[in-house]
Amino acid sequence: MTDAYAGRPLRVLLVEDNPADAELVLRQLKRGGFAVDSLLVDNEPRLRQALSDGRWDVVLCDWVMPGFSGLDALALVRSMNSDVPFIILSGTVGEEVAVEAMRAGAHDYVLKDRSHRLVPVIERELREAETRREGARLRDRLQQAAKEESIGRLAGGVAHDFNNILTAIIGYAELGARQVAQGSSLERCLHRIDAAARRGAGLTRQLLAFARHQPFEPRPVSLKEVLERSLDMLPVLLGPDVHIDATLLAERPARVDPHQVDQVLMNLAVNARDAMPTGGRLTLAIHDEGPGPHGDGSWVRMEVGDTGSGMSEEVIARLFEPFFTTKPVGKGTGLGLATIKAIIERHHGSIAVRSIPGKGSTFTVWWPAADAVEQPSRAYRTPMPLGSATGTVLVVEVDPLVRELGREVLESFGHTVLTAGDAAAALALADAQGPVDVLVTDLVLPDGSGAELAADLHRRTQRTVVLYTTGFASDRPDDESAFLPKPFSPAELSRRVADAVARARR
Ligand SMILES: Nc1ncnc2c1ncn2[C@@H]1O[C@H](COP(=O)(O)OP(=O)(O)OP(=O)(O)O)[C@@H](O)[C@H]1O
Ligand SMILES: [Mg+2]
Repeated sequence: MTDAYAGRPLRVLLVEDNPADAELVLRQLKRGGFAVDSLLVDNEPRLRQALSDGRWDVVLCDWVMPGFSGLDALALVRSMNSDVPFIILSGTVGEEVAVEAMRAGAHDYVLKDRSHRLVPVIERELREAETRREGARLRDRLQQAAKEESIGRLAGGVAHDFNNILTAIIGYAELGARQVAQGSSLERCLHRIDAAARRGAGLTRQLLAFARHQPFEPRPVSLKEVLERSLDMLPVLLGPDVHIDATLLAERPARVDPHQVDQVLMNLAVNARDAMPTGGRLTLAIHDEGPGPHGDGSWVRMEVGDTGSGMSEEVIARLFEPFFTTKPVGKGTGLGLATIKAIIERHHGSIAVRSIPGKGSTFTVWWPAADAVEQPSRAYRTPMPLGSATGTVLVVEVDPLVRELGREVLESFGHTVLTAGDAAAALALADAQGPVDVLVTDLVLPDGSGAELAADLHRRTQRTVVLYTTGFASDRPDDESAFLPKPFSPAELSRRVADAVARARR
């Protein structure tokens, strides 16, 4: 046992009025293999001072001292530094005193003439103190996880409603902008409303990703291709004073959701930019890697480094907490790295950070490599062409603002538009005024699901093409072409509907 602690530093606070006794104790500890760092105090003010100055591994305390008792010392230690092991050392401890001391919170007592017990007692107390600290750390982590989960759930709920509101704001701003004179100040106002709402949409996306409601579609893709595309955007994001250094050496496909890889990169890049207000260098590198941080599987390692401010230990410790930010209000929400962490966890990857204050920081992400047999697919779908076919469109949407927006937009493109607030009304309309070429419906309706409504409609008209809208993406249908995430703009809506009409007519 003694060997396990050999040479181990031990900070000892000795409360003792007799220097010769103190000397004996210290000799005993050194012989027991401790590298001792000690302070001797013999009155209350000095004990108080010592406790507030330093962190101690153990307090060794004489029980009987002139003008100051072991019991007083113990009460003071407990009031100032609750957890440190407190061991009584005395020539005179009788059974009653010992019981009293243990009741008051002493950990053990050692008689001066049995001092060979001292080293094993201290070793045991150090182990137990470590166990207590470990327990406290675990509790903290559990609390943290619970906190993150509840924030995530809250975020998911808010984001859903928020997407409806943003759809209406973006939509009416765009419709309005079409009706005012080009270059007028009213047009500029409407564009700013649109830009602000889109920023809101970006924030909602982050919240949803964090709440795990964002679509998650890992597939084998070439990380190199994904990042090469993002590289085009980086200079815009980083500004002219940041030099970009990219080394894209990974050949192995990774199993990732490319949009989320993008999101991780963008968040890291924005953080890097903010850390380099007067410019600097951003490095982006990917490499193939064998057994990764956990010694298993194979990985594609992505590194994003900067030459910015770097981070203190305190910041690093809290980095991934949601809403942790050192930036002024309005500049940072503290969700960037929490989102990144959520994304990486869903990929079963990992992230690490190195930082030197004043020199810079490097974030390393390990993305899982895809099975070598699978072929990487294109990272992005090519956008659909703008169509011009017109037909009868049934819009089913609970939110009246979004519903009316749908009508206005689609009518302005020449479609015949029917609107309903729930499934029953939608079916009645289809029966009375059908057939319907395209059904645009929210996935969640007050009286059922959009998918059930689509099935009912299909029983009546074979060729109806369905477009599902939703602010939640976790419950999206398998067929991607049938999905229009909120918030969408009038241009997106009309393009997707025209395309659907063309398919219905085919
Ligand atoms: N590259 C970096 N260099 C220095 N500090 C960083 C870096 N990246 C993150 N940080 C620190 O970590 C904090 C949290 O980062 P995070 O991205 O989660 O939130 P944010 O950037 O403050 O806000 P948001 O990303 O939501 O706009 C930052 O406020 C900053 O103090
Ligand atoms: Mg950030």
